[in-house]
Amino acid sequence: MTAFRLPATTPGARLLGLGSTQPANVVTNDDLAKTMDTSDQWIRDRVGIQSRRVVGDGTLLVEMAAEAGERALKDSGLELSEIDTVIFASCTMPSPIPNGAAQTADRIGISAPAAFDLNAACAGFSYGVGTAAGLIRSGSARHVLVIGAEKLSDWIDWTDRSTAIIFADGAGAAVLGPAPDEASVGVGPVAWGSAGDLAPTIFIKPENNALFQEGQSVFRWATTKIAPVALRAIELAGLTPADIDVFVPHQANLRIVEAIAKKLRKSGAREDMRVADDIILSGNTSSASIPLALDHMRADGRVASGDTVLLVGFGAGLSYAGQVITFP
Ligand code: UT7
Repeated sequence: MTAFRLPATTPGARLLGLGSTQPANVVTNDDLAKTMDTSDQWIRDRVGIQSRRVVGDGTLLVEMAAEAGERALKDSGLELSEIDTVIFASCTMPSPIPNGAAQTADRIGISAPAAFDLNAACAGFSYGVGTAAGLIRSGSARHVLVIGAEKLSDWIDWTDRSTAIIFADGAGAAVLGPAPDEASVGVGPVAWGSAGDLAPTIFIKPENNALFQEGQSVFRWATTKIAPVALRAIELAGLTPADIDVFVPHQANLRIVEAIAKKLRKSGAREDMRVADDIILSGNTSSASIPLALDHMRADGRVASGDTVLLVGFGAGLSYAGQVITFP
């Protein structure tokens, strides 16, 4: 038997930096109501969105990804040369080849990192963080840049009021690295899974290359199946719901966010747990929504260093993933 030399393992991973970006172009509900049969009131009541950001000037998905990545890197204080792996979570690349990770790394100026794309749709960022933490713990990677980036506007039928009012563009990123000891590990085990039998509830229609979703089916699934995933992530980390300071679920619909938070509170989460509501001004940006929400909450002082933060992503696949992190 050949005995392989394996890399030294580490106690686990922690977050070192965070960054995000959104297009400058703001699209209000009233703007959409000019071209389709909808209203500001309906969208606020049923989805919670007031406005969203949509690329209006031809900006590429990888440009947004690189900008978010650069900001996260700057925030981490690391040198470009210290990043050895780039994970690009997205479901809106213009084509499957080439991947987004290598292009984005090149734009940032990271030399020859391991670079791969990960498509878990709206669960992509949590899948990416889970994958990065595993690579770091096993010694296969040291510093990983995880980017969640989407240009959903390329994949929307702008006459379809059931999708056009929800989805938006943006990018968010985090840098993860090894924790020096057990006590400073800042990423809990990932609770993840899928429900492939429900794949037909969200897909890109080949006839028009536009996103289709059975809104009510996905709504029901999200409001019944995702709170248990969040509770599992808490349990895997050896914590209780009362330990959670901040809850950042995927920003799918404000009513879904509130329904999951209500279930967590019934299971012991605190009333003063801060809950992300970034969908109000950002819309649903799929894999970018969690890092965008986190970055915006940091900017307005609703998440701070040392906070215990619960992340949970869910969406097309259907796929889901959650973990508890310590905010850097
Ligand atoms: O992030 C990926 C995962 N995706 C999700 O989590 C999305 C989950 N689903 C949802 O968020 C919601 O189901 C939607 C926001 C997509 C739709 O909200 P809803 O409360 O489930 O509305 P609905 O589809 O049941 O439609 C209710 C009514 C219908 O009219 P009738 O049949 O009652 O006369 C729709 O035709 O509202 C109508 N409607 C609209 N009216 C004005 C549907 N879309 C619109 C609209 N403006 N944009």
